[in-house]
Formats: sequence, structure tokens, C-alpha cells
Amino acid sequence: MPGWASIWKGTAPVSTPFEPGAPAGQGFIPLCVPEVRGHEWAYIKECLDTGWVSSVGKYVTRFEEQIATRLGAGQAVAFTSGTAALHVALMLAEVGPDDEVVLPSLTFIAPAFAVRYLGAWPVLADVDPRHWQMDVEQVRGFLTEGCRRQGGQVINQATGRRVKALLPVDLMGHPADMDPFMELAGEFGLTVVEDATESLGALYKGRPAGRLGHTGVLSFNGNKVITTGGGGMLVTDNPALANRARYLSTQAKDDPLEYVHNTVGFNYRLSNIQAAMGCAQLESLNDYVAAKRRIQQTYREGLAGVPGLGFMEQAPWAGSACWMSPILVDPAAYGQDSRSLLKALHGQGIQTRPLWQPLHQSPALAGSFSLGCPVSERLYQQGLCLPCSVGLTPSDQELVIGAIAAGQGGGSQAA
Ligand SMILES: Cc1ncc(COP(=O)(O)O)c(C=O)c1O
Repeated sequence: MPGWASIWKGTAPVSTPFEPGAPAGQGFIPLCVPEVRGHEWAYIKECLDTGWVSSVGKYVTRFEEQIATRLGAGQAVAFTSGTAALHVALMLAEVGPDDEVVLPSLTFIAPAFAVRYLGAWPVLADVDPRHWQMDVEQVRGFLTEGCRRQGGQVINQATGRRVKALLPVDLMGHPADMDPFMELAGEFGLTVVEDATESLGALYKGRPAGRLGHTGVLSFNGNKVITTGGGGMLVTDNPALANRARYLSTQAKDDPLEYVHNTVGFNYRLSNIQAAMGCAQLESLNDYVAAKRRIQQTYREGLAGVPGLGFMEQAPWAGSACWMSPILVDPAAYGQDSRSLLKALHGQGIQTRPLWQPLHQSPALAGSFSLGCPVSERLYQQGLCLPCSVGLTPSDQELVIGAIAAGQGGGSQAA
């Protein structure tokens, strides 16, 4: 059995039959592995040849500029990870101990951890059943009825804690409905950090995901649409915030010669080698998003007639990047549940993966405030992400579709 977690992160160890790029027919179709087909080798070699391997170098600047240009944003600041960028984005929003930040319960846990790094608490909202994004109406209800205003602050009446920020996540590459969140933020004096770590290349009403909040955060983790091996980016139109982010992410050096530091900083800066890879990957972003969209569309068409399977709907506001291709498995209508299908597919060399345990159920986040998240719970029970690597071949995808179709009714081929 391979390290599933490492494959999910796109960092499968070598010398296993499951390594990324293992050709079709060799017994394994991974969930999501990186695609390296451009100038990655050349750009990284240049870093090695010139000695510019660390966190200063032309590729760091170039990568930041290219991301800012791509998103039409004023500034982009490169980080070692999306989680690190979220941490600093929340610091810039002045989130502090015992504050609260509203985010969806159905997400990878990293944004909630970033909240906890600051001693603050998540308020966990449900997602809407059609598009799986943070439920605007529930958040509105919480702010208007569950909170009181006090001296210009918004206080959660249940916990007595101050609500400081909204942190919508563009889940699965599909943008959240950001305009209403920005309106609510304006009305209640909150900051919006857009977690666009899964949605580089997506559009919201024609505008790029990642620049829809006051700040936005991207990830270049191994399983993301493009990767730097590990990395993140903080995006903002505000030069003062960008300068502060650079300062905090480079150990808060006030006098680099004399090593004077007036505040606590972090070693969060992306290396030139990683940024070089990012520049090369970015050149392929349009192709990769097109491939992801094609893969998802093929699943939708190929599985449309299978009873008991459902899909995330694309909202009218969204041009999804289709980072993941999830399905929902209704056990009564399909004949087996999502986890038994997962095992059956695994037996056929097809890697799938459930959605994340809803965060209001996570022991790591005990003490957080939940708004009630039944939709997240159902999607977690029924959801399965299907293989969606950019390099997934049509014949491999046909195999996946065939295996899922055969599994209907608890089918013998899939069992
Ligand atoms: C929604 C979400 N937020 C944050 C992160 C964290 O990004 P990173 O892995 O680059 O720290 C991820 C993915 O890893 C994610 O899926």
C-alpha cells in the first residue's frame, strides 16, 4: 500500500508502482499528480548554476509579478506555503487571540489552523448543497441575528468573542459567491481573506479567483493546479499590506546589517528554486485548467446515466478551474456507499479520495463555534474525488468511468 497521503499531496515516493507518471496499464491511476512538461528543468538549472538558490533571486520577483499580472492585482508576495500566506493574511487583518473568523466547515483544515495559530477561533459555516461553497445566507443570519454590535465591534452573542474576518474558500476550484461576502464585510466592518488555494485559473463573474477579497491566498502545493513543490502567494491591491507581508515573511528584519528586529517575524519566504518552477508552471496554467475542465466534463457525461451519482453544480457566477472532480454517491440509489466504492476502485488500481472531515467534527478544532453544518456532513459521507491529474489519459479516464458504472448495484466487477 503506498503512502496515500503523500500521493494526495503529489509527492509519491519513487520506487513504488504508484509513482507519478507511471504509465497507464501499469496498474495504478493516481488521484492527482503534478504535470512537469515545460521550462522547469531549464529555469531550476539556472538557479543551481548561478547559486541563486535561496529566497532572494530574480525568479521570486518574476513569479510574484507574473501572478499579480495574471490576477490583475497590485501586488503578490511569495510564501513557502498557502498555509503560511493565510497565517500572515490573517495577521494583516489584525486577527488576534480570542477573535473569531468565519469559514466553511467543508474544507481542507489549513485555513482553520491558520486561525488557530493566532489564538483565534473558527466560526464554522455550512456550505450550500448545489455549489458546495460557504453558505451566504447562513453567514448573513449569523451576523445579523447571532451577533451584536458593541463599540464598532461585532460580538458573537453565543461565545462573547469578537468576529474579525470572513474567510471564504473557493472549494474544489469553484469560486465562492464573493460579492455578498464583500457586502457583508462592508456592512459589519470585517476583512475578507479569500482562500483561493484550490482555484487558481477560476473566474468569478469574469474576475480571477484570488483577488476577490481584501487579500487572497494561493497554494502551489504538489496537488494544486500548478505547483512549486510547495509554496503559496498572498495577493492584494494594497502596497502597504504587501510590504508588511514581505517584512513579516522574512523574519521582520528592521536593520538587516545589525540584525535588529522590532517584532516577531517568520521564515516564510519562497525560495528562488521553487519560484523558478512556479514561473515554468505558470506558462502552462491555461492548458492545465483546460485539461482539468475537460476531465470533469468527461466524468459528467460518462457518468450521467448511472443511478445514484451526483455532481457539484457549477454556479452561474463561476468559471471553475475544476481542480478536483468529485462525485456524490447516494448509497440507496447506487447500491453501495462512497467508502465501499473507494475500496472497490482501489482494488482495481484507481485512487479516489473522500472529501475532508467537516471541521466542526474535527478534534483538532474543539472549542470552535459551529453554525450547524448538515450539508457538509452529507457531502463528506457521500463525496469521492476521482482521478483528475492534468496528464490523465482518455483511456485511463474511460477505465475509471467504466469501473464506477460497473460498481452500480454493488456490481461484481467493482467489488
Ligand atoms: C482550502 C485550502 N486552504 C489552504 C491550503 C494550504 O495550502 P498549502 O498546502 O500550500 O499550505 C490548502 C491545500 O493544501 C487548501 O486546500
